[in-house]
Order: sequence, then C-alpha cells, then structure tokens
Amino acid sequence: MPGFELFGTEERSEVNDVLETGILMRYGFDGPRQGVWKSRELETAISNVFGSKYTQLVSSGTAALTTAMAALGIGYGDEIILPAFTFVASFEAVISVGAIPVFADVDDTLTLNPEAVRNAITPKTKCIMPVHMCGSMADLDALMAICKEHNLILLEDACQSIGASYKGKKLGTIGDAGTFSFDFVKTITCAEGGAVLTTTKAQTAAPICTLL
Ligand SMILES: Cc1ncc(COP(=O)(O)O)c(C=O)c1O
Repeated sequence: MPGFELFGTEERSEVNDVLETGILMRYGFDGPRQGVWKSRELETAISNVFGSKYTQLVSSGTAALTTAMAALGIGYGDEIILPAFTFVASFEAVISVGAIPVFADVDDTLTLNPEAVRNAITPKTKCIMPVHMCGSMADLDALMAICKEHNLILLEDACQSIGASYKGKKLGTIGDAGTFSFDFVKTITCAEGGAVLTTTKAQTAAPICTLL
C-alpha cells in the first residue's frame, strides 16, 4: 500500500529516544535505559485507546495469535473454526500450537458466515476465530451467541482491522482475546510487532503437544 515507506519526524524522534539509550530489549536494563520504556507505554496507550483491560506486546501478529491461543488453553487436538479467506499466518498459528484449523465459508462481512460456523462444529471444537479482513468486521453478535451456546472461545484476529469498531466497541476487545499486527504493511507499524488484547486473565496454558 503506497505510503508505507514514509516516516515523519515524530516517528524518527521516538526511535531515536530508544537508540540513544543503547538498549533494544523491552525488559530489564532498568538503569541504562534512563526511564525509556516505549513498549510499556504502548501497551498502556493501547489499553486506554482501544479499551482492553490487558495488552501484551509481542514480536509479530503471528506471535500474538499463538500467544493468545496458548493463554486461552488452546492446544493439541483442539479444533479452531476460521474463515477460508484469510492470511496464511492465521492458520499457521493454529497449527503451531498443535491445534487443527477447520475452514468455514465467508459471507458479505468478508469473514465467517455464522451458519457455516454452526455446520463446522464438532465435539473437538474449542474456538471460533473470525478474521476481520481489510478493515471490515465479523457478525460478532451471531458468533458470540454460537460461542455461548456451545461454550467456545472467541478469538478475534484483528491484525488487518486496527481501529475499526463493531457497535461502538473496538475490534480485538470484544471476544475472549484479540490480536493486532504491526508489520510493515499495517496501519500502525514498527517493522515487525504485534499485540494481544484481552479482558480476561490467562487460563493455564494447554500442552502444545502430547507424547503418545
Ligand atoms: C489477518 C492476519 N492475521 C495475522 C497476520 C500476521 O501478522 P504478522 O505479519 O505481524 O506476523 C497478518 C499479517 O498480514 C494478517 O493479515
């Protein structure tokens, strides 16, 4: 998307603040970093602006998805229903935690058709993961109703829809957890980065694989 290569003086100045400390790690080095905690500041800003109780920055949108899945207790053998129209990272993340991607058709929302989701539910289904594509939004009321009915987790992949909202609430803050990507072609970028947004405390992480 044209414009991704343009950086203003404000952005350069923020990056320089970090370079001047010489500390490129987000944790530790409390003394040498001279009070510069950009990641922590961004987490607080995201929580305030988007309305998530907890925000955790990670290294990419893909890492945000795997982190969210592990924190939500999704792991080996669990089925996650996601749209057939998405970016490859959505289902790569599912596979990387040992879970099984189950693809369902999309509708005019550009993401999950609730009826297709219903038809894809099995006893192994653990999570429904709409991907809010290209700035649009899923039919979250319908998907949340299905989650409630079947006791399923709702994980929003909002990597492509940072700032969009559904009925006044920011995407990524409506389900059990939501994810953002800050890669080079996203609306907010830091080259590579991501965030997990949630209002619930993490459950015990599920095993990513089990020995047979
Ligand atoms: C819908 C969606 N999910 C996840 C990702 C993964 O984000 P990242 O490139 O930061 O790993 C992307 C990236 O394009 C995406 O479009």
